[in-house]
Amino acid sequence: MSGDIYLDNAATTYPKPESVYRAMDRFAREVGGNPGRSGHHRALESGREVLRAREALARLLRVTDPSRIVFTKNATEALNLVIRGRLRDGGHAVITSLEHNSVWRPLEALAGHGDVTYTVLQCGADGSLDLADLREAITPETRLVACTHASNVSGALLPVAEIAEVAAERGVPLLLDAAQTAGRVEIHPEEMGIAYLAFTGHKELFGPQGTGGLYVAPGWDVEPLTYGGTGSRSESSLQPDFLPDRYESGTLNAHGLAGLRAGVEYVLETGVGEIRRHEGELTGILLEGLYSIPGTLVYGPREWEKRVGIVSFNLGEYSSSELASILDQDYGICVRSGLHCSPLAHRTLGTLRRGVVRASLSHLNTPQDVVALLHALREISRRKP
Ligand SMILES: Cc1ncc(COP(=O)(O)O)c(C=O)c1O
Repeated sequence: MSGDIYLDNAATTYPKPESVYRAMDRFAREVGGNPGRSGHHRALESGREVLRAREALARLLRVTDPSRIVFTKNATEALNLVIRGRLRDGGHAVITSLEHNSVWRPLEALAGHGDVTYTVLQCGADGSLDLADLREAITPETRLVACTHASNVSGALLPVAEIAEVAAERGVPLLLDAAQTAGRVEIHPEEMGIAYLAFTGHKELFGPQGTGGLYVAPGWDVEPLTYGGTGSRSESSLQPDFLPDRYESGTLNAHGLAGLRAGVEYVLETGVGEIRRHEGELTGILLEGLYSIPGTLVYGPREWEKRVGIVSFNLGEYSSSELASILDQDYGICVRSGLHCSPLAHRTLGTLRRGVVRASLSHLNTPQDVVALLHALREISRRKP
């Protein structure tokens, strides 16, 4: 597997910075205690490690109170927590036509059982959205606006500052799905008036799989998704009412959070601005190269400034799975094909039937990786499918 080129970072980043591997190894060998449970030195150090991860994320997101960042096992769990919490007694939600299944499916499940309804706002393939549609969609019953920060299919960035403003004007909380943007685009929920920000740890924050979380703004607490042991108020049958314990029942993935802490510190040391600049440069090379290959269809905005480092395309008559498999087997290039957990986005792009090949970058990719992909695609385009 060595020597391959990994361009599937929107699924999960690989490789991770060296410091992430070291932090997890150190935790597993040298710490090992259960965070917040016992009073011995291993448990205390484990608790400190989790706190350091929370504080690193608070620095990155410029959140004043780190305890308002709660850990979950991924973005999906964080999104479910808010969607199920806000709509547990019914109500209406507004989402966009670029949402991931981790937003759409929980809403569909609620809508299937009872009093929940929702409106899907139509976006353009470039992530654009008519704010008048949003204003019109919000009714007195609306309890939540949920929106992805960037499409995981096309890479298009959505106008989240404007969406947050409209939601705030109408007194409705905004749930921002930052799974594809945390670590690579500046996001500051307190300054932007975002009530909930869901993130995953294993993408551009460079943590391991099984890590993620949620920022909850003051005044927007919801019922927990899971109840149980927190290591606090153990005498009581009631779930603690303070954060983060209210939402963190059961033993945390401290091994993973040690790695996530190192990943977030890598992002902080490198700087989100530098990460965006590097990925922008690579995305620009990729887009320009793809547009120059005959028979290539590229989806999403033409300018890299309007997207993150995710580019989806199709080539000639190849099916997306056939093309991805040639790239893997003949060239050692890892990309994703088919439908990418977001049928809403595929419908928006007109690729619901065919799917797309998705190449996605991280800060650890090089221009050579992109050039190798373009070279392979040029060769394949000359073959007969
Ligand atoms: C936009 C978006 N939201 C949510 C998720 C879910 O993230 P996770 O699988 O880490 O829960 C993903 C994962 O690809 C995503 O791209």
